[in-house]
Amino acid sequence: MKHPLAELYDGHDEIQAEIDRRFASQPAPDAPGKPAADAPAGTVERHHPKRLRLVVGEIRAETADTRTYRLRREDGQPLPPFLAGQYVNVFTDGTSRPYAIASSPSWHVEYYELTVRRVPKGRISNLLIDTLAVGDRLTTTGPMGTFHHNPLFHGDDLVFLAGGSGVAPAMSMLRAIAEQGRDAACRIHLVYGSRHADDVIFRDELAAIAATHPDRVRVDHVIGGLLTAETINELTGPLRGRMVYICGPQAMYPYALEQLTLLGHPRRRIRFEANGAPARPEAQPHWPAGADGAEQVTVTACGTRFRTPRNRPLLDALEDQGIRPEAACRSGECGMCVVRVVSGETHTAEEGRLRMADERFGYTHSCVAYPLTDVEIEV
Ligand code: FES
Repeated sequence: MKHPLAELYDGHDEIQAEIDRRFASQPAPDAPGKPAADAPAGTVERHHPKRLRLVVGEIRAETADTRTYRLRREDGQPLPPFLAGQYVNVFTDGTSRPYAIASSPSWHVEYYELTVRRVPKGRISNLLIDTLAVGDRLTTTGPMGTFHHNPLFHGDDLVFLAGGSGVAPAMSMLRAIAEQGRDAACRIHLVYGSRHADDVIFRDELAAIAATHPDRVRVDHVIGGLLTAETINELTGPLRGRMVYICGPQAMYPYALEQLTLLGHPRRRIRFEANGAPARPEAQPHWPAGADGAEQVTVTACGTRFRTPRNRPLLDALEDQGIRPEAACRSGECGMCVVRVVSGETHTAEEGRLRMADERFGYTHSCVAYPLTDVEIEV
């Protein structure tokens, strides 16, 4: 059945066939004639596969609008290891979305659990929740992302401010503590904001972990209110020397940064999970004055010319035309979606982590780049 929100994206079958072709062209790690699994090349393929083919083994309803999908490898083999806080990029409906892994990392990873909350009018979250069933197959990347705990740089005393389904990476960290017990490397104080009490995800498990590991884990819920500086201070006490992780809806980021700054917490002790392209790039300070975001410009790429609004990320606009640069984080961080601007002018959002050489030679991250004028793009 076709999902109503998918009607813009005809051609799903060809796209899936293309994904399948790319998948099939990857050498199997243990294929005859390939290097042994413990040889360097085999190790890289095993730990950092470009694509994984996973089967939905179990679906749990967490709240009225949130589901957790337990995904296993089709061939029953262990999955590539990951660090708590990392994500996989899920390919579907001609595009992809990153979802944080909420399950515990361990040396023998049998499954990844992805927790998906409906986003109003969200193309992929609604499609997954409405159509994905046990036994269905999904193509994903291997685990990716830098939003994980690194004890060398981040210390072992962490505060995690989560909003909505942004609790998923925190859950992975807490489950790791629950598994490791007294050997766990860190303490975490989770401050978890939800609109309503019914929206809280993992409520019972969070309470159980906090009760079992009172020396390592503390969980506070903030229901229906903002994580103001006062609330944060009241709950966490002094933040000095602690690393603060933030994951939640986009609007939470500037607000949380402002509140932590009011508390005198330095920016270098705050880590944000990347969370999509900015909803309103026009609101960013270096968006050119007077450039109407809704106005259409012409994009030329891969022999195709099409019109798109200035405020639609180039990656999304290219995918609408069946042109699919490789992509993962869709937030400007990983650099997988890089394209070259041959002519014309683009706006790269503040989220885009461009290297100096990218800027110098005209490259940008298409997931957070917007065409300001007619542009020609090399993919
Ligand atoms: S997909 Fe990661 S930077 Fe664009």
